[in-house]
Amino acid sequence: MALTNLRELLAQAERHKRAVGAFNVSSIEMICGVVRAAEALRTPVILQIAESRLATTPLPMLGRAMYEAAERAQVPIALHLDHGSSMACIRQALELGFTSVMFDGSALRMEDNIARTLEAAGLARSFGAAIEGEIGSLGRTENGETAFARYTCPEDAVRFARETGVDALAVAIGNAHGVYAGTPAFHFEVLDAIRTQCDTPLVLHGGTGSSAENFRRCIESGVRKINIATAIFMASAQAARSVNQDDWFAMSRAITDAVTEVAKEHIRLFGIA
Ligand code: 13P
Repeated sequence: MALTNLRELLAQAERHKRAVGAFNVSSIEMICGVVRAAEALRTPVILQIAESRLATTPLPMLGRAMYEAAERAQVPIALHLDHGSSMACIRQALELGFTSVMFDGSALRMEDNIARTLEAAGLARSFGAAIEGEIGSLGRTENGETAFARYTCPEDAVRFARETGVDALAVAIGNAHGVYAGTPAFHFEVLDAIRTQCDTPLVLHGGTGSSAENFRRCIESGVRKINIATAIFMASAQAARSVNQDDWFAMSRAITDAVTEVAKEHIRLFGIA
């Protein structure tokens, strides 16, 4: 049984000064591609899906497939709900066996973010699962909508981590979901300021296109989970276009192969392999 709690993977990543790859999936091909990459590199990974994607990929269906994949895998795999916003969805993920959930209260006032994160944390803990929170605001949401970017204030992050007791803390340091226009300039001083006062493992969202050097610096400054979604989705779409489109099974194989390569490439960059 390879299904694993996020806390364990983060602690392992901390010991080895590396980050765990958290890959967003929305099909069986993507699940298989990520697991195959993890097994090939003998590396733990996180399989995750964002609440906003559930309209096209129902959680009870894909969640069960993710669970089965994790159970059968030859490496430890955590199952994570990304950007959870409703308690109903968070509960559903936990009931399906997800080993961690994110409550994204980054658009809320600090007090409300703390209160709702605590509520989600209580729910997660009652299932023995871990919780990720977010403080600060990324420039783009995970489904491509533009949002107001607000870098994380280190003092707020430290207070948030202390009062909520989250297992993982997502921060905004110039990162955004989707495709960057060039290599993004990250504010590492924010990570360093948080790190000196708090040892909660940090999470980098918006991993796609961030650059190897940015990953290295983030990991050096305490980032222990890095999210990759767009690279998985873009590689899948490209792979589907690259083969005979009258042959679904060729497309399916091409998607799995492409996702395997994307996941491997990132796992190597995150220093685990
Ligand atoms: P990207 O889509 O930029 O890889 O971001 C993924 C992410 O942070 C999911 O929460």
